[in-house]
Amino acid sequence: MVRYLALLATILAFAVARPSWAASTASSPEKDFTAFRNYFKSKFSKVPLNDFVNGPYSMNEDMRKQWVEKEDFPPYDFALDRGKELFEAPFKNGKTFGDCFPNKGIGIRQNYPYFDEKKNEVVTLEVAVNQCLQANGEKPYSYLKDDMAAVTAYMAFTSRGKPFDIKIPKNPKALEAYENGKKYFYQRRGQLNFSCASCHVQSPGERIRAEILAPALGILNAMPIYRSEWGGMGTISRRFTSCNSQVRGVPLEPQDPEYRNLEYYLSYMANGLPISGPGARP
Ligand code: HEC
Repeated sequence: MVRYLALLATILAFAVARPSWAASTASSPEKDFTAFRNYFKSKFSKVPLNDFVNGPYSMNEDMRKQWVEKEDFPPYDFALDRGKELFEAPFKNGKTFGDCFPNKGIGIRQNYPYFDEKKNEVVTLEVAVNQCLQANGEKPYSYLKDDMAAVTAYMAFTSRGKPFDIKIPKNPKALEAYENGKKYFYQRRGQLNFSCASCHVQSPGERIRAEILAPALGILNAMPIYRSEWGGMGTISRRFTSCNSQVRGVPLEPQDPEYRNLEYYLSYMANGLPISGPGARP
């Protein structure tokens, strides 16, 4: 633990200076987008743009080799099969997930989250899956793993290669949700006083314990992921809550509006980059 803290302290030292573009208060998602993209392109000029979606593998050659070998028998295969089965199985009322989504739910993951202008809130894919279950009189899934991870893995798989296409409608509420997500991303929290950006903007490619930090650009494209450390799959909800716990902070409830806004912000930053999920991590 002492070693771990020492490493964290090193990161913290690098992280005090917030990039100037993150400090801007004016609401301009387009400007944020350009600045965010340029930051990663210049910091990692050797990484091809579409490779950022491979998370830690885009940052480390040894790790990438192990991953490429593993992809012959990907550990998420089981979840994919299960996800397809759940996705296609009729609910008690005879309907299926396909009936809840545009294009029957195939090849649409890149459009989530979206801003629902009737409810004035961000709807993530995980929320949409549970809304579908509830609208059909079924019990919602737990957000962190198992069936939720399986169904979102299958939906991501049918969307592989499709670029993120997140829209921010010209609606002050939508902009507010985006700004709130952005704020959450750069806000320091927890006993260690880290923001998401301290690790995933300032320090991608650095090592924490045995792990190589993934870059914030394209950080959601591979979700959901299999992690050996988890002994199974985890959703975006699982990753957000565990990253909050890592800084000894108190995580929010999965799919709390703030997490949804955070997902909205990060996904918008990844516009144009291909969906690569489901992913596998050591
Ligand atoms: C103390 C450093 C630290 C902080 C702060 C942190 N994370 Fe992480 N995060 C990690 C580590 C370690 C991993 C696992 C290795 C990796 O993939 O980056 C990870 C992984 C992730 C992943 C999965 C990336 C992938 O490709 O596997 C996402 C998404 C993520 N973090 C989001 C966040 C968000 C959002 C926040 C803020 C709420 C946050 N993290 C805060 C350390 C951190």
